[in-house]
Amino acid sequence: MDVTFSHRIPEHLRPSRLAAARARVGRVPFDLTETNPTRVGIALPGGVLAALADPRGATYRPEPRGPRAAREAIASEYAALGSDVDPDRLVLTASTSEAYGFLFRLLADPGDVVLVPTPSYPLVEHLARLDGVATASFALDPDAAWRIEPSSLAMAPERTRSAIVVHPNNPTGSHVHPADRDLLVETCRDRGWALIADEVFLSYPLRGDGRSPTSFAGEDRCLTFSLGGLSKSCGLPQLKAAWIVASGPDDEVATALERLEWIADAALSVSTPVAEGLPEILAASRSRSEAILARCRANLTALEAACRVVPEVTVSAPDGGWSCVLRVPRLVDDEQLVLTLLEDDGVAVQPGYLFDLPGDGWLVLSLLPREATFSDGVERLLARVERLVRDA
Ligand SMILES: Cc1ncc(COP(=O)(O)O)c(C=O)c1O
Repeated sequence: MDVTFSHRIPEHLRPSRLAAARARVGRVPFDLTETNPTRVGIALPGGVLAALADPRGATYRPEPRGPRAAREAIASEYAALGSDVDPDRLVLTASTSEAYGFLFRLLADPGDVVLVPTPSYPLVEHLARLDGVATASFALDPDAAWRIEPSSLAMAPERTRSAIVVHPNNPTGSHVHPADRDLLVETCRDRGWALIADEVFLSYPLRGDGRSPTSFAGEDRCLTFSLGGLSKSCGLPQLKAAWIVASGPDDEVATALERLEWIADAALSVSTPVAEGLPEILAASRSRSEAILARCRANLTALEAACRVVPEVTVSAPDGGWSCVLRVPRLVDDEQLVLTLLEDDGVAVQPGYLFDLPGDGWLVLSLLPREATFSDGVERLLARVERLVRDA
């Protein structure tokens, strides 16, 4: 008899038409899908790798929440952003993805539901499924600067246990509006849900005076978990370190932390040299985060300038993060447009449907590529759209 496999994994794992085309084309000269910060020519400060060689990394002293010095250093990063975080309410994980898994196991039984924003980061749905948790969505309105559509929140299924918010969102770059924050928090409080705030891009404000928006860390009206990690805040995904900050009513936080610690203890997944080196790693990588922010801001400015003279294309102005959404005319479906750009113009972009953007007419660009690659790629993209409009 054949073995049966779990339904936690999608039945078909064949590469999509787009993935197959990428594999066929090979190296793409203007890759505007690049979100790996280690591949875009941004220097790795020497202090980062040096911190990993600290002799403290030679001894194994398992601590499920992570070493206190690491948690204090993370709390100081929040203090710099204006949020008061208690290091005792912090748990280290190996990645934000792992943090999601810990929280699903903490909050939901198989078949329970987590609410996810749409459009947003697509991996969350897979992560939930891997833990036996179902997802339902609440909508962000493209015509209202991605504000929450309250009716979609009100229609949450009965088995909903938690809601996720991504702040700033990926790919729209939208910050959670203060009134939407109140709506989310009050809904969670009234319905007995926990709130999970994915804030991996919080320290990349793209507008104004460079100040980050207010974090959900410290939110005390409902049980709240704020997620952050080195992968984005320092552009160091290869180090595998992230964290969960718990806040809310004291009794709920205490119970949640005790249980989270139990989950973390079952895996002890954070590497000792990374956890011990975290204070130095955070300090050493400040210039790297600044360089990433400068890159994203420069590319966004170039994109907005280029689009200003092509009225058919509009930039859905992001508030923060590493990505940006473009609205393009619906002359061909998004997948066809993306394939044409790839095969005929040497430009890679993501179609909006990968992030559940509504209907056709959306492209998603990473703001991380080198400036010259980015602006040449944008020029080719716009030229292609203009040609399609002319030929229509
Ligand atoms: C919104 C968001 N959350 C979480 C992650 C995953 O982060 P990590 O590398 O810490 O698992 C990503 C990665 O792209 C992301 O975009």
